[in-house]
Amino acid sequence: MITTESMLIKKTSKSRLSEVDFHDLEFGKIISDHMVISDYKNDDWSNLHIEPFGDISFTPTILALHYGQMVFEGMKAFRMTDGNVSIFRIEKHYERFMRSLDRMCMPAMSLRMFEEGLINLIKLDAPWVPSSEGSALYIRPFVFASEERFGVKISSEYKYIVFSGPVGPYYNKPLRVKVEDHYIRATHGGTGFAKCAGNYGGSFYPTHLAKMQGFDQVLWTDGSPDLNIEESGTMNVMFVIDGVLVTPPLSDSILDGVTRDSFLTLAHELGIHTQQRTVSALELEAALQKNILNEAFGTGTAAVAGPIQSIDIKGKDYSVPVPENGVMVKIKNLLTDIRTGKAPDKYHWNTVIKL
Ligand code: COI
Repeated sequence: MITTESMLIKKTSKSRLSEVDFHDLEFGKIISDHMVISDYKNDDWSNLHIEPFGDISFTPTILALHYGQMVFEGMKAFRMTDGNVSIFRIEKHYERFMRSLDRMCMPAMSLRMFEEGLINLIKLDAPWVPSSEGSALYIRPFVFASEERFGVKISSEYKYIVFSGPVGPYYNKPLRVKVEDHYIRATHGGTGFAKCAGNYGGSFYPTHLAKMQGFDQVLWTDGSPDLNIEESGTMNVMFVIDGVLVTPPLSDSILDGVTRDSFLTLAHELGIHTQQRTVSALELEAALQKNILNEAFGTGTAAVAGPIQSIDIKGKDYSVPVPENGVMVKIKNLLTDIRTGKAPDKYHWNTVIKL
């Protein structure tokens, strides 16, 4: 049971909620009223509290700005059919957050601290959780190095912040992607499995080039001559090949997606055969030529699932079917039903905030 007793909560005197157009929820634009903050100093986290969302100040020397010690999470809270709010898979996000922090030499925090801040924040900003189809309250926990010094070193001070904002559907149409055969997102021994800011910054240039060529995203590969597929844009990637749901196996160059894991679990429940195995661009091309690539889609917290309508392999563009009631749609619908309380929460994924 999480209580508010130990946490200082300073509420806003002027909510911005009435200014929000809930019919126009562009991703990343609207921020809810409050934020969680805690500081790490002298080997410990302290001063966990909630305050009105607003600017924070620091000097230009803080280490995060120079050497990129910055790690984040992306989570969601949903409006349930009974009006309550559910936060999806807190523990799974927490575990990944700790792995990311560890890889970047940044300090862990207890699950209790993570939950306490998060749950109190979402309780307070519950009116911001939208209810329309495909919408949610996106939650962004992050930690950055805040020591004021520009010498190259592991920071000894950090700031933890969590804010949230209502979001609508991430993509409004199926994606056109290309297999990226020059740039790579991550390699073995690198930081690909960690949700650190640099992974995203480094992907912008190749993604920008792909967009100039008319694509929405790139399919990242492992950089080997076989072009083994790893991820799709900022999402994990799944293919339905001859009725089997296939996704690349987790490794140190692939993000352990919470949606990816949920999709695999629910595929099993729906009797869909799954394989976590290497998929090369060559195999994809052969499957496309034989018409046995039934579906392709990305999975991620922001998008939930984004269907892929075409894949470019070495300059050749192949169409991919986007069925109305295919594997992706069936799993996504079940996932939505669990999150909103229409289907039983067998796996204990929801933390329900009763309002
Ligand atoms: C997510 O899917 O939540 C992501 O982290 C991708 C992007 C919004 C950064």
